[in-house]
Amino acid sequence: MTAENNLLDSGSLRQILDLLSDGQFHSGEEIGALLGVSRAAVWKSLQKLELLGVALLSIKGRGYCIEGGLDLLDSKKISSQMKSNLPLDLHVFAQIDSTNSYLMRQKDPVGQVCFAESQTAGRGRRGRVWVSPFAQNLYCSIGWGFEGGVAAIEGLSLAVGVAVARTLAFCGVEGSELKWPNDVLYGDKKLAGILIEVTGDPAGYCQVIIGIGINVAMSVDRAAAIDQPWIDLHAICDEKQIPQVSRNHLASVLINELVRILDDYDRKGFAAYSAEWQALNAHVGQQIELRNGNAICSGECVGVSDDGALLVKTALGEERFHGGEISLRRVS
Ligand code: BTN
Repeated sequence: MTAENNLLDSGSLRQILDLLSDGQFHSGEEIGALLGVSRAAVWKSLQKLELLGVALLSIKGRGYCIEGGLDLLDSKKISSQMKSNLPLDLHVFAQIDSTNSYLMRQKDPVGQVCFAESQTAGRGRRGRVWVSPFAQNLYCSIGWGFEGGVAAIEGLSLAVGVAVARTLAFCGVEGSELKWPNDVLYGDKKLAGILIEVTGDPAGYCQVIIGIGINVAMSVDRAAAIDQPWIDLHAICDEKQIPQVSRNHLASVLINELVRILDDYDRKGFAAYSAEWQALNAHVGQQIELRNGNAICSGECVGVSDDGALLVKTALGEERFHGGEISLRRVS
């Protein structure tokens, strides 16, 4: 399997997936007739889908079915709802190692947007694995360029958290919260994560890869590998009794909200978003503990500064914390 797998654009697999995405049973004959191929060729295609991680149910006499159906990403649907006036280059892969790694490999990632139905080596912060099953969640990366070096983008990951919270609200899911520096929570459980990677000149023009994973409908068996409390949009929409969010709609709104913030960030910095971040802060006024390797510090979470530092009232007074390697937890 290559690092980038666009099998779904190859026609026949996409046709089968489109047919099975209704969650109903379809016989081998029906699929063969649709593709104009033999039963053996159908079987080979179904095997390829299983290799991609598509869970196929097969019952003798009834045929094949994807339980619960599928809501596949569609580059035409996503781009038709994208509002940016800037030229963006959209890629949608069936399978990839990691959408962030894909953009990191590009000579010029700026203005490139990458989505994948699944990631074989999805990465989270602090060396964690990001569990990325096929067609269940959203895995997205966008490349952007900034003048002013890494110092100028200290607060960028927090601003991206605001873009994700705005996206969710726009899609009808109000009530998400942010955990410093950039986890998106709902009811204290992780709903989305952000991984920012930087290349280029740390003191001048740098290129930034912004990766976002949003749990949409995570399968419980794949979620067994997640080592923290998590939630997905499916469960939230069920609980709120609101319509489920379409992944294509979510994808295009996310790009719109990201571009809106990224386009402004050079001029305005995080200061333009700090009040909004603070209103979404899951831990304001609470006792928290910060860990960086073996170093531990605790105190009351005050909020964030205009450059994205976390402000904590400790025994020594108000202290400022910066840096993506720090982890935060509430002390109850
Ligand atoms: C975190 O640990 O909270 C950050 C998770 C970031 C996951 C996303 S999914 C799309 C992009 N590609 C990756 O490999 N990681 C990010």
